[in-house]
Amino acid sequence: MNRRIAFVSGGIGGLGTEICRHLALCGHHVIAADLGARTERIAAFRAEVEDLAEHIRFEALDISDFDACAASIRRVEAEHGSLDVLVNAAGITRDTTLRKMSQEQWHSVLTVNLDGVFNLCRNAIEGMCARGYGRIVNISSVNGQTGQFGQTNYAAAKAGMHGFTMALAREVARKGVTVNSVSPGYCETAMVMQIAPEVREQIIADVPVGRLGKPSEIARVVAFLVAADSGFITGANIPVNGGYFMDF
Ligand code: CAA
Repeated sequence: MNRRIAFVSGGIGGLGTEICRHLALCGHHVIAADLGARTERIAAFRAEVEDLAEHIRFEALDISDFDACAASIRRVEAEHGSLDVLVNAAGITRDTTLRKMSQEQWHSVLTVNLDGVFNLCRNAIEGMCARGYGRIVNISSVNGQTGQFGQTNYAAAKAGMHGFTMALAREVARKGVTVNSVSPGYCETAMVMQIAPEVREQIIADVPVGRLGKPSEIARVVAFLVAADSGFITGANIPVNGGYFMDF
């Protein structure tokens, strides 16, 4: 099998970094796309993936910019001949109750977390369909399934991602392209460490396995979904939350 080309938005983030590592270890060539202004984090990321530097490269991209997403994807396709795997892992929080939420807090979360998915999928989907192969994984959240106090913006975006996933999965199923979402619970990431310690401790106490998830525990599910022999799984949402929310 030819080496697959994977594009990971939020690629230098808490989950993104581990997703890039897992995909590289599975034989993908990985483009980790993230904001170019995060210079310190970019340097840390380069150090964290140094052992896989041959297989992972950083690409500066603001996913809220549709034209920039188009240009980035065209560049990857021109350079490598295809873009086979797209993982939408970029996400931000602006937590506050709706009664205090500004329009800016609402729009910034929806723009990055949901418009970003549209911007990348819209530009990647044509090539995937034309080549008859593609794997898209959208990183949603348990809080898109349950809602969370202080997260009307984030929960709306994350629930929206899964509606998007199911609709697109139907549209491209006959073209060899699968579209799935993964809904992580609370994991050991900078985003979760921003929560006030007493609030975080209460959340952890409510997780049946009694701890935060590890980014690698999310990344291995992504690697499973993007495998060539996972072609019968589409439109699914895989919860990875330590039992925090159980559904069927
Ligand atoms: N449940 C019930 N009541 C709560 C509450 C909670 N979790 N948090 C605050 N309250 C109460 C407060 O005591 C306060 O009550 P009074 O009005 O009677 O005084 C009222 O609600 C309003 O509280 P605040 O003024 O403190 O509200 P705020 O707008 O400043 O926001 C918050 C509070 C910062 C959002 C806080 O609730 C919080 O941190 N919640 C958790 C958010 C969270 O889990 N974010 C996840 C980030 S990580 C992530 O998203 C990754 C992922 O996908 C899992």
